[in-house]
Amino acid sequence: MPSATPEPSPAHVVLGVSGGIAAYKAVEVLRRLRERGYHVTPVLTREATRFVGAATFSALASEPARIELYGDPTTPIPHTHLGQRADVVVVVPATAHLIARYAAGLADDLLSATLMATRAPVLVCPAMHTEMYEQPSVQENLATLRRRGVLVLEPESGVLAGGDAGMGRLPDPSVIADLVTRIVEGYRGPLSGYRVLISAGGTREPIDPVRVITNRSSGRQGYALAEVAQRLGARVTLVSATHRELALDVATNVEVIPVDTAAEMAEMVLGRAPDQDVVIMAAAVADYTVEPAAQKIKRDGTERTLVLRPTIDILASLVAARASGQVLVGFAAETDDVLARGREKLERKGVDLLVVNDVGAPGAGFDHETNEVTILGRDGSFTSVSLRSKADVAAAILTRVAALLSQGDR
Ligand code: CTP
Repeated sequence: MPSATPEPSPAHVVLGVSGGIAAYKAVEVLRRLRERGYHVTPVLTREATRFVGAATFSALASEPARIELYGDPTTPIPHTHLGQRADVVVVVPATAHLIARYAAGLADDLLSATLMATRAPVLVCPAMHTEMYEQPSVQENLATLRRRGVLVLEPESGVLAGGDAGMGRLPDPSVIADLVTRIVEGYRGPLSGYRVLISAGGTREPIDPVRVITNRSSGRQGYALAEVAQRLGARVTLVSATHRELALDVATNVEVIPVDTAAEMAEMVLGRAPDQDVVIMAAAVADYTVEPAAQKIKRDGTERTLVLRPTIDILASLVAARASGQVLVGFAAETDDVLARGREKLERKGVDLLVVNDVGAPGAGFDHETNEVTILGRDGSFTSVSLRSKADVAAAILTRVAALLSQGDR
């Protein structure tokens, strides 16, 4: 008898439920996930059971709802078992308390321990009163989670418990179920499926075997872009001219191509650009280079002249050879008249977005941990990003990039 092709095993979804009134909507999410054929294990906090009983979840799920970290007769370590087996973990609703525990790395019940024990993508769906949602503590915890690659589904505005209205309502269960399906199918964030090339650092043009002409770019903004782009789902190539000890998070899977000179950077960037959906030129590329002397130039007391030859303008070459639908992002370092010069440069360069660094502002630009930029769009739009970490600036830039990719009408 011909052997039957085995059915592919269904995706495993851990449905975490924390203690908020929107817990009743998690029942509907569970039902929809089961309809799509997923194996769903509900994991409830004790507070969640004050809103909806575990029996309701157990009756609809693929296996009984779990609450306790200890005392499970089938396994002494339910959190690692659940975390390892999961293809996706979704928390509906995520209360302020659950979000805080997750951001802090606490693991004091089965749900928080499962979140710690999984390498699967995690989607948290916050739902709470507007006053709580807007607390800086909640927003900072969510920003921390996002930076670590957790997907956060923004709550909606609408009627809340007690007749109040405002931001904080859980989106419709069908929206959550659709997002879980996209995650199961490979969605890791708004840059999922896109290839992004980023250049970083300051190039070095040799004068002789020991001396170089370079600039003060550290490469930190480019590295932050690479990390965040990867966490938003992109396949990332980083052409790096940095000479600092910059480490990418070990969890990232970024291809790093080290280069030294503007010519090497041009070769690597232009060689790979045709395959990329997005190219971000965050590097400070030398505008001029010199013919290096073969031997170390000796000090002989005479005056010397270096002849500066212009380098290739990589961004201009990218624009000239732009593949259809490709998004090109340039950076500009300005010290005065930042907006007007930025706008003029955007037009001249023909890029989709220009990130203007006010390198004269305190705490911003070269060699700082923080940055403050204005993102100018070809459509005349601009976003001012006030002083914040380079990772958060990267997130703001990549959000604009993702919006352009989703429009697809550049
Ligand atoms: N850039 C490039 N190739 C170069 C020099 C710069 O691709 N040879 C890119 C940078 O990576 C940056 C953008 O061009 O994204 C703007 O660089 P900037 O030095 O600010 O602008 P310039 O074109 O050099 O203009 P100006 O010197 O007049 O300010």
